Amino acid sequence: MPEKLEPLEKVASLFDAISGVFDTWLETLQAKVYGEVTWQHLQHLLPELSGALVLDAGGGTGRWTLPLAGKGYRVVLCDISPGMLRQACDKIRREDLTDRAWATLQNLENLAFAGEIFDFVLCEDGPLSICDAPKALGEMVRVLKPGGMIWAAVAGRFALSLRRLQRDFEEAVALATGARSFTRYKGLGNTRVFSPAELRELFVEQGLEVIAIYGNGIATGRLAAGMQDAAQFDEALFRQVSELERQCSEEPSLLGLGEYLQIAARKPYKVSPVGNESPIFG
Ligand SMILES: C[S@@+](CC[C@H](N)C(=O)[O-])C[C@H]1O[C@@H](n2cnc3c(N)ncnc32)[C@H](O)[C@@H]1O
Repeated sequence: MPEKLEPLEKVASLFDAISGVFDTWLETLQAKVYGEVTWQHLQHLLPELSGALVLDAGGGTGRWTLPLAGKGYRVVLCDISPGMLRQACDKIRREDLTDRAWATLQNLENLAFAGEIFDFVLCEDGPLSICDAPKALGEMVRVLKPGGMIWAAVAGRFALSLRRLQRDFEEAVALATGARSFTRYKGLGNTRVFSPAELRELFVEQGLEVIAIYGNGIATGRLAAGMQDAAQFDEALFRQVSELERQCSEEPSLLGLGEYLQIAARKPYKVSPVGNESPIFG
């Protein structure tokens, strides 16, 4: 398997093909818990101003656009898959959010927006693992206002390595040692994995100030398969598993075991240097 990204057209057509059933997966216990734990962390980082402008980068069928628009934010979803966008548009119309949510066909690696217009950028559930991450993140930083926040989720190196141990020992070792950084994941072809340190470095290199990194899918990744994928479960079980996942997600010693790593980072304000030229110092 080559150590490179899938071509853009292939990514788009892979998502086109699953766009009609993507939301079915979101109904499983694993996905619901992922969403709940994500929300518990994300809600404290969102802009205070209702009406703030949010970019949902690689926003797919609008899993996050809809609730964010429902909270009063103005949300622009961009995605490379026309099929995923169609689903998102249908939902935006059905929920009567067309005055606050918009969906547009765009490549994250080359966004068509002016600089410094968004208050918050969300890039959830792995787009940075299937596109050119430094390029796409550079674009997100460009369109983000100084002081604004980015939240992103990528595939976790060690969780995916350990998952390969029984079926492909060589690949598991290569992923864990860093000899390889791409693996097949969820039928999406080559997916780039990150360790917590690599993820932090990617963001720091873009001049961002890292606020937090969480693991997600630590506990749910270890549930029995039937339970993970269950579409029907009672509220009590959902609460219990969500609490377990939240605790694992915040435990530093478990961070690397996250199937997903989620990062929150801030774009600093431009600070003018105080130096000899300052009138105060003559
Ligand atoms: C796993 S889905 C996640 C969708 C959504 N963020 C969520 O949390 O449900 C990944 C999405 O990223 C999009 N994507 C991948 N590469 C992209 C690129 N270069 N530009 C724009 N979107 C991209 C895919 O089309 C897909 O809709």
